[in-house]
Amino acid sequence: MAQIIDGKKISAQIREEIAAEVAQMKAEGTVPGLAVIIVGENPASKVYVRNKGKGCAEVGMYSEIIEMAEETTQAELLSKIDELNARCDIHGILVQLPLPKQIDERAVIAAISPSKDVDAFCAPNIGEMMLGTADFLPCTPAGIMQLLARSGIEVAGKECVVIGRSNIVGKPISQLLLAENGTVTICHSKTKNLAEVTRRADILVVAIGRADFVTGDMVKEGAVVIDVGMNRRADGKLTGDVDYASVEPKASFITPVPGGVGPMTITMLLKNTLTAAKKQK
Ligand code: GUN
Repeated sequence: MAQIIDGKKISAQIREEIAAEVAQMKAEGTVPGLAVIIVGENPASKVYVRNKGKGCAEVGMYSEIIEMAEETTQAELLSKIDELNARCDIHGILVQLPLPKQIDERAVIAAISPSKDVDAFCAPNIGEMMLGTADFLPCTPAGIMQLLARSGIEVAGKECVVIGRSNIVGKPISQLLLAENGTVTICHSKTKNLAEVTRRADILVVAIGRADFVTGDMVKEGAVVIDVGMNRRADGKLTGDVDYASVEPKASFITPVPGGVGPMTITMLLKNTLTAAKKQK
């Protein structure tokens, strides 16, 4: 029987800590501010963006949601980013991904001032993370590290296996686990004998976007299993990348979906926005 890592509860604790710091900053005359740009009508993106605005309000931050039309040009979006880069009341800027096909995602990310890049997606911030000198860490991976730390799970010396190599989750979480002295293996679609590799894991992080992909036979007895998946079943229910029913009995700790990693992403975005405001003050 695994201990369930309660992402909602840990997230609420961190939000309380952030709210206290925001109140302090406000008393000193600065309100941390986040701008979120959404281009187009992607329904999932709209929900995420709305939740980011709500998260800001919950901890006392200012937020501005900027909705741009599906046919927005790259030049128009870059010009909006320039405007936000120059504003003193906006400390963090986030452009919700994915973007419509006429827009070059990398060019947009590169246009955000690194000091306001609260997603930590731009090359300079990724470089700082690799060097261990970053002000901001990418939100989902940073959230996973908080879940581990606040559940008392030691990373040093552990076999850590990550399934998935995306720029948003797989690559950065591998780096953060390494920074905590884990022995890290990254698996992906070309990995041979995947189950053999995953069965070595003391800590298994799954971020591939395939519902119920990791089954009990792929997991070592006593492993810590972190499920980053958010897949929508035909019946509308949210499900992870881990087959919870067969994995939970073998794991020592497991994150549920929903209520595991998910709530942490916005919380870490709020933390990065707070850090950005402190640095720009
Ligand atoms: N789309 C899905 N996840 C994210 C995220 O963490 N940041 C941004 N900007 N877009 C996303």
